[in-house]
Amino acid sequence: MAIRSIEELCEELQGKRKSAAAGGGEKAIAKQKEKGKGTAHERIAQLLDAGSFVEIDEFVTHRCTNFGLEKTKPLGDGVVTGWGTINGRKVFVYSQDFTVLGGSLGEMHANKICKMQDMAMQMGCPIIGINDSGGARIQEAVDSLNGYGKIFYRNTISSGVIPQISVIVGPTAGGAVYSPALTDFVFMVDKTGIMHITGPAVIKAVTGEEVSSEELGGAITHNSKSGNAHFMAKNEAECFEQVRRLLSYLPQNNLDDTPLANTSDDAYRADANMRNIVPTNPNKGYDVRKVLEVVLDDGVFFEVQKDWAKNIVTGYGRVGGKSIGIIANQAACLAGCLDVDASDKASRFIRHCDAFNLPIVTFVDVPGYLPGVTQEYAGIIRHGAKLLYAYSEATVPLITIVLRKAYGGAYLGMCGKALGADLVLAWPQAEIAVMGADGAASIIFKREIDAAENSEEVRYQKIDEYREAFATPYVAAERGLVDRVILPEETRKELFLALNGMQSKRESLPRKKHGVIPH
Ligand code: HXC
Repeated sequence: MAIRSIEELCEELQGKRKSAAAGGGEKAIAKQKEKGKGTAHERIAQLLDAGSFVEIDEFVTHRCTNFGLEKTKPLGDGVVTGWGTINGRKVFVYSQDFTVLGGSLGEMHANKICKMQDMAMQMGCPIIGINDSGGARIQEAVDSLNGYGKIFYRNTISSGVIPQISVIVGPTAGGAVYSPALTDFVFMVDKTGIMHITGPAVIKAVTGEEVSSEELGGAITHNSKSGNAHFMAKNEAECFEQVRRLLSYLPQNNLDDTPLANTSDDAYRADANMRNIVPTNPNKGYDVRKVLEVVLDDGVFFEVQKDWAKNIVTGYGRVGGKSIGIIANQAACLAGCLDVDASDKASRFIRHCDAFNLPIVTFVDVPGYLPGVTQEYAGIIRHGAKLLYAYSEATVPLITIVLRKAYGGAYLGMCGKALGADLVLAWPQAEIAVMGADGAASIIFKREIDAAENSEEVRYQKIDEYREAFATPYVAAERGLVDRVILPEETRKELFLALNGMQSKRESLPRKKHGVIPH
């Protein structure tokens, strides 16, 4: 047997590395580029800190012999895996390579992804999956399906332990969409990212409906209609920047502290203009994000699901450098009413913050749950219940700031004291009551109003009477259901002090396997 020299052996290794790095070859890469898409390696390079990526399993190949697949055994099997850093913090990553067998997922491709999931769990680090795939590798039949199953299982077990992020930069079809759906956040690139269970052709055959792939499962659809996605970017570079930004607010795992950012923004900064943002007239709208911009460090609010269920605003910010999760009613949309989608959006966000130790700050201006047959039939009862459940179960510091209306069940649904709010602050124009003054006075003074000759005049009198007596923060403050009534311009300072005050909170729930959350 000829013994080979070290040069020959090294050359062989370098050749293999080159072959693995070449993906599906020049032609396939050119096709990828024509669609405005990057290669699997380019995407990882954009996502991670420069030079930090360590690739593993680059020589893995499939072992399928069906339909002549044994003649094509590309190194890496259509997915690039490894770890690196984002802003100096370790993350695990996989990036499907559409240029290799359409990025389709077979047994070994799935094993590579599962290895990343297992390592991310063991090391307590976030995992980011970059999805660009034709789905289950048809030649590998049930081995492909089993591979997906193994990924879904790990997605579920990792949920709430490490942050899991899915980036959709190509097709993700059929059951393959369930891995992204099981992860915490889904990012999509406009025009290239597609997710659907059944494609346009199957839909046409089954229901007769005609729809384009983009209309059915594009980034705009999932970010504005279905709520399946959380972020949308105009191109891959912007998308990876968004992922890096999101991670800056999150801890590495459920046992880690949230990262502390440097800021020169004075925590005691008071902005007199705060008095003019929220009108005292309860029927007037405004954009609650204007309040957030004044309160948060450097005016920076990182919004999650900004184009879906716009009547509630969710996202991250910092106060005194510390990350917080924010839920806010949006008076500018449906008057800030809670509906099915808003309840789903907010309750999931609350659970994420709670799982990852982020204090939750709730800005309240809510007239109630949205009335209507459509809402009732869509299950506003069980969806609305999710909010009550998520807040009640959360053990992180919960700070509620009532800006204006807090009526009825929605007062509780937006983290009223009884659900476990540690500190409830209220602005002077807060109205904490069973309902608005108009409705309340018309009901309780109905007889007097109807009996009066000048009934309209009496009605207005009674409304004023009710408003003065009950549409204030002071009735709740008298009972300790509001802890402090504050001036609008004091909000940033008060929040900073509240977060410091509640930082050491320790609360444990009764031991149980898990609750039965309303769905
Ligand atoms: C094997 C696949 C493949 C797949 C694509 N390819 N999808 N190989 N299994 N699922 C191969 C193609 O044969 C082709 O090989 C190469 O990848 C590139 O594909 P193209 O069709 O040329 O690319 P494009 O025109 O861009 O179309 C992309 C596409 C299309 C829309 C994704 O490839 C497609 O419809 N693929 C099938 C999608 C699908 O039905 N997958 C199963 C979904 S169900 P060559 O050699 O020609 O370059 C599913 C179940 C999961 O995933 C269940 C989990 C529980």
